[in-house]
Formats: sequence, C-alpha cells, structure tokens
Amino acid sequence: MSFVSSCLESGFDIRVLDSLFVDHGPRLAHMRDAASFAKDIAGSFSLPAEDAQLLVRSALLHDIGYAPALRRFDYHPLDGALFLADQEEHPWVTEGVLRHSWAGRKSGLDPAVSEQYAQRQPLPDAAWLVRAVTVADWRAAGVGGRVSFARRFQDIATRNPHNPDKVRRAAIMVDEVRDGFLQWARDMATERRPLPWVFCDVDNTLIRPGDRLSVSNKAAVKAYVAAGGAFSLATGKHPLSIAPLALELGLETTQVAGNGSCLLDKNGITVLDELGDAADALRAALESRGLPIAIYRPLGIETGGMWPASLDEIFDRYGEIRPTRTPLPGEALKILCIVDGDDLRRERELRLLALELGVDCCRSDRHFLEFLPKRGNKGQAARTVMEQATWPVLHSLAVGDTENDEPLFALCGACAAVGNAGEWARRGADWTIGQCADNGAGGFLDRLRLGHGWAGLRSGLIF
Ligand SMILES: [Fe+2]
Repeated sequence: MSFVSSCLESGFDIRVLDSLFVDHGPRLAHMRDAASFAKDIAGSFSLPAEDAQLLVRSALLHDIGYAPALRRFDYHPLDGALFLADQEEHPWVTEGVLRHSWAGRKSGLDPAVSEQYAQRQPLPDAAWLVRAVTVADWRAAGVGGRVSFARRFQDIATRNPHNPDKVRRAAIMVDEVRDGFLQWARDMATERRPLPWVFCDVDNTLIRPGDRLSVSNKAAVKAYVAAGGAFSLATGKHPLSIAPLALELGLETTQVAGNGSCLLDKNGITVLDELGDAADALRAALESRGLPIAIYRPLGIETGGMWPASLDEIFDRYGEIRPTRTPLPGEALKILCIVDGDDLRRERELRLLALELGVDCCRSDRHFLEFLPKRGNKGQAARTVMEQATWPVLHSLAVGDTENDEPLFALCGACAAVGNAGEWARRGADWTIGQCADNGAGGFLDRLRLGHGWAGLRSGLIF
C-alpha cells in the first residue's frame, strides 16, 4: 500500500514504525494488511479523502501497542493509544487504536486498564472509524495476508488450541464484526449496481465435471444479471474452454480464467501475469519426476512429454480444451501437474519446489496441482475486473470449493463455499451453500436476488 495516503502533517512519524517492530515482522505485516483492507473500505464506500486518510492510518497503527518499547499496561490497544496521544496524533486515529475490536469492553480486564478506559469518553463522531478499523483487523490474518472473516477466525482457533475461552470469544466476535459489515455493505448498493458482483468458480461449484451447465443454474445466473447483478466466472480453466459457457450464460462481464493469470472478454484474452523463467525450470523438475504436465498458454494448452492419451478424456470430462502435443507460442500462464493429493510426501516436495522457484502452488482438484505466477490468482484478477469497471471492490461475493478459491474469498466482501467443498474451503467461507450437484450456486444467487443482496445476508445463515 502507499503510505503517502496515510501520512498526516502532525502526529506520529510513520517512518519510525519499522524500527518499532524489528523482530516482529508478522505483526507489522498484519497491520499493513489491515491498512490495505481499510483502503478498500474507503474506496468501496466512497469515503471523503480526509476520512479515508484517517481510517487507513488508524488501521495501520491499530496494533502499534504491541511494540515492545511501548509496553505500559500490557494491553496493546491502550498502550498504543497512550503512545499516539503523546505523539499528538489525530484524536480519531488514537480512538480507532484504543477501541478497535471491542478493546476496553472485554470482561476480565486488569482493573488499572479498566480505570484508564473509564476515564475516556468514546468519541461519537469517530464511532464509524472504530467499526471500520475493526473490520479491517478481522480481514487481515494475524501473521499478515488478506483473509475472509471466517478464515481469520480459523486462524485464531488454530493458533490457540489451549485457550478455548479466547476461541469462544473470537467465534462470537467474528459473527458480530461480519454482521456489522453486512449491514454497512448495503450502502454500496446503488441504482446502477443494486446487487453485489458474484465471482463464481466453475468446476465442482457451478458445474459438476462430466455434466453440462444445469437448467436451474443457468436460469439463476440469468435472473441475477437481469435483476442488475454482475456475474463472472472465476476458473482455473483455459479461457478458450469457458468462452462457450460465458456465451451460453449471456455474460457481458469479463471472466477470470487460468486461475487468475488471464482475463477473457469480448475483445479476447488479456494476460495478467505469467510464469516467466520459472516455467522451464518447473517443466524440467516435474518431468524429471515422471509427472504428466500441461502448460497453459494464451493460444491453448500444450502437454509435457509424459502425457498419456487417457488424460485427454479427463480434460474432456472437465470441459477443458484438448491439449496439443506440439509446442505453442506465447507465455506460460500456468502449469498443471497431474499428481494425486493423497500422496502427502510428494505434495510437500512439490510445494517446496514452487517456493524455491518463486511461484505459487495450489490444488484445484484431487488430481490437479497448479503452479501459478505470483500475481496470477483469482483474487488479484477479480480486483482488476472490478477496478476496470469502476465497481467497489468490496461490493462482491465469491463462490467456490477449493484452495485456489482462497484468494478470491479473501478479496471479496464475503464468500460462500458449496456443500461439496473440501473442509478447508468450507471453514474459510462465511457460508456453506448447497452442493454443486443440487445447484447450490444457483440457489445462492436466487436467495441473494430475492433478499436484495446484502440486506438478505447475515452470519450463521443456513442455505
Ligand atoms: Fe490486529
């Protein structure tokens, strides 16, 4: 994020922040990610420039009280706020730090801490900022990285297995913070965009591999779009494979393909990122292990040397274009490797390989492990799509079923996993909707449309 936008003329000198968090990189990363989410809140809700600046700054500083040098009461929101007040920071920024994520309201506080809070009246004008900083805090993972509300809770639960009280409190809190956001999210709806933009995964989410698009899912998408909603496919498939589907659904939006490495619209394919030099090294490393691979390029899919003809049928079943045996020109968008997800040793080894080569790696199916460029994921691509359409980034919902949908879940305002999704994806989603085989995605779209978008959504909904 740009820090220029969060720099005020007076108050705490933001350039000092790094030096306060030497040896505490993950905490600082969390604060920066909260600031980056706050920037999306500011943009999505069209906040006036000064409010936006104060919000981003408050989100960036919200955990400053964790800096060892600032410890006074050993209660980070208070320690941070006291320090910032000494620095003559803007009172709203200090207020956001002091009260973020229910700070001061929790039971069992040290009496000295409670006394400090009792001495300070809340600032009613900054109540919105406290709420917004809290949302940003709950959309940034504890160790950095943008996440969904649900994943943030999972993250806390996983890191605190011996503190059931903390986990229980976090479970209550995440629902309240999410509900606050959902309530507020209604403000993003306008006449021109009454419903959130839905980004929907294809295989095992919208369509069961081997089947055609169902009549009910097709009808639900069309009704959603007719009601003013925007809908995009967000898939790992090759753009040429989804072109007929986009046509059948009558979509005029831009589609996310190749797992976010490229976009497809009426003008053709736009490459967002590519594997670059890593492609050759990856190919050699995977083939030396005897693994079949498919290299996705803008003009088609090219197989590696170990590709058995039987895999062509799997591609047919998935509605993926047939790979060619001859080399294709153009950048490598992604490499798909056929390797069973149950082989955990191999999985670890290949993920390590990706790390060494500086590329991302994720599983899109039990059989498919994908190697992707760093900036080519469904989340980044969906952001590009919405920004190109000047659509508020948080006025969006993700629907998916697997690990490669995680960046999309993290990007959008909220997210849903189909009932057949893996446990990891379901735990990272705000809602679990019906199974792909039962037209769960279509049912969700119908419910969204009939419930007037955000207005019909709240934590704990059963679909
Ligand atoms: Fe935080």
